[in-house]
Amino acid sequence: MWLLQGRFQCLHLLNLVLQLCKQDEGVVCQPRPSREWPLLESHHDQGRKLGAHRHRWRSRVEHQHELNPSRSVELLNSGNLVVKDGQGSVLWQSFGSPTDTLLPTQPITKNSMLVSGYYRFYFDNDNVLKLIYDGPEISSIYWPDPDKDVWNNLRTYYNSTRYGVLDEKGEFIASDRLAFNASDMGIGILRRLTLDNDGNLRLYSLNNSTGLWSVTWAALSNICLIHGLCGKNGICLYTESEACCSCPPNFEMADASDWRKGCKRNFNINCDKPDELTFMELPKTDFWGFDINVSNKVPLDSCKQLCVSDCNCLGIHYNCGTGKCYTKSLLFNGYNIRKLVGTTVPSSSERRSDSGQ
Ligand SMILES: *[C@@H]1O[C@H](CO)[C@@H](O)[C@H](O)[C@H]1NC(C)=O
Ligand SMILES: *[C@@H]1O[C@H](CO)[C@@H](O)[C@H](O)[C@H]1NC(C)=O
Ligand SMILES: *[C@@H]1O[C@H](CO)[C@@H](O)[C@H](O)[C@H]1NC(C)=O
Ligand SMILES: *[C@@H]1O[C@H](CO)[C@@H](O)[C@H](O)[C@H]1NC(C)=O
Ligand SMILES: *[C@@H]1O[C@H](CO)[C@@H](O)[C@H](O)[C@H]1NC(C)=O
Repeated sequence: MWLLQGRFQCLHLLNLVLQLCKQDEGVVCQPRPSREWPLLESHHDQGRKLGAHRHRWRSRVEHQHELNPSRSVELLNSGNLVVKDGQGSVLWQSFGSPTDTLLPTQPITKNSMLVSGYYRFYFDNDNVLKLIYDGPEISSIYWPDPDKDVWNNLRTYYNSTRYGVLDEKGEFIASDRLAFNASDMGIGILRRLTLDNDGNLRLYSLNNSTGLWSVTWAALSNICLIHGLCGKNGICLYTESEACCSCPPNFEMADASDWRKGCKRNFNINCDKPDELTFMELPKTDFWGFDINVSNKVPLDSCKQLCVSDCNCLGIHYNCGTGKCYTKSLLFNGYNIRKLVGTTVPSSSERRSDSGQ
């Protein structure tokens, strides 16, 4: 990735990121709670959720209130609160209005979605279950892998039922062929499927003796592939133990308390004086999406020239091997694709790395 800038010296971002992660207090570095799955959630949040879910699950069918002569409310063992009319038909049920969590036997349907901050888990118009970042400035789908087609993601468009459900054994199956199992498959374990506030969808199991939830499946193992995490111009770096946001050189955090607001430029790009524009190199970095144009087999200098001659262009993504040149109008969803020892790099990153230098 090459970013357009004013007259500045070339800096190598990678060293800077690593330094920032270790030394700069402004960088968000949070340890993962479990070895396999990353989590960017505060303990406070988890505590609150734990309380809520426990409450729901421990409920028994004890209360059957008469609201009026013809209606009744029942809290089922599954956690579903059901309002029925005199004939026993369901008028409303809490399972139909989830917030950020699905319980076993609670389906996701064409009429329901999970919401957490700017993130959503929902059936799209093409019948496929997706995760989307729907923020104030941009919205973009990051799961399943947006660089692959539906078949390579092992899904299908052609079942319009739009229905998915987790069963009591910990097996999730949906009409678009999304299927996964809890790593601790079996009955008698309390589970929840939650869209966390970092945009990852995770399946949790409750450990009865400790009262703690552990992650038994997650949609993305590399949370840097989640869009919107580090905001505009921000770059996500995922190491074995942490995920960090950082700003490119000559950029600074737009709001020191909130990475979602990204980074702001400390310089102006004067489009009237293209001769004065230079580029700084950000090795192994990509900003997903917002390509103005893609050109094949062009030399690096020509690629830079394409950007300089377009006032909307903020940088280029260039592949030295194939000469593919992407000009970018917006720098969002930035991440560093460097492979670190012990880090799981999902196939999506493998694929993208062929276009990344
Ligand atoms: C469509 O999905 C539903 C729900 O998962 C399933 O019961 C049904 O068999 C599927 N239909 C086809 C044709 O695969
Ligand atoms: C989940 O486990 C069942 C066996 O209980 C197996 O048939 C199925 O293929 C598994 N699904 C996945 C996605 O591994
Ligand atoms: C955990 O507790 C729940 C509710 O008290 C119980 O139904 C379940 O059997 C327990 N599971 C295990 C594995 O002990
Ligand atoms: C629950 O947690 C305890 C303490 O960490 C651990 O020893 C036990 O194996 C856990 N149980 C399950 C079913 O994972
Ligand atoms: C995109 O690039 C190609 C050459 O690679 C050029 O012919 C075309 O005009 C460009 N399109 C836009 C919209 O700039």
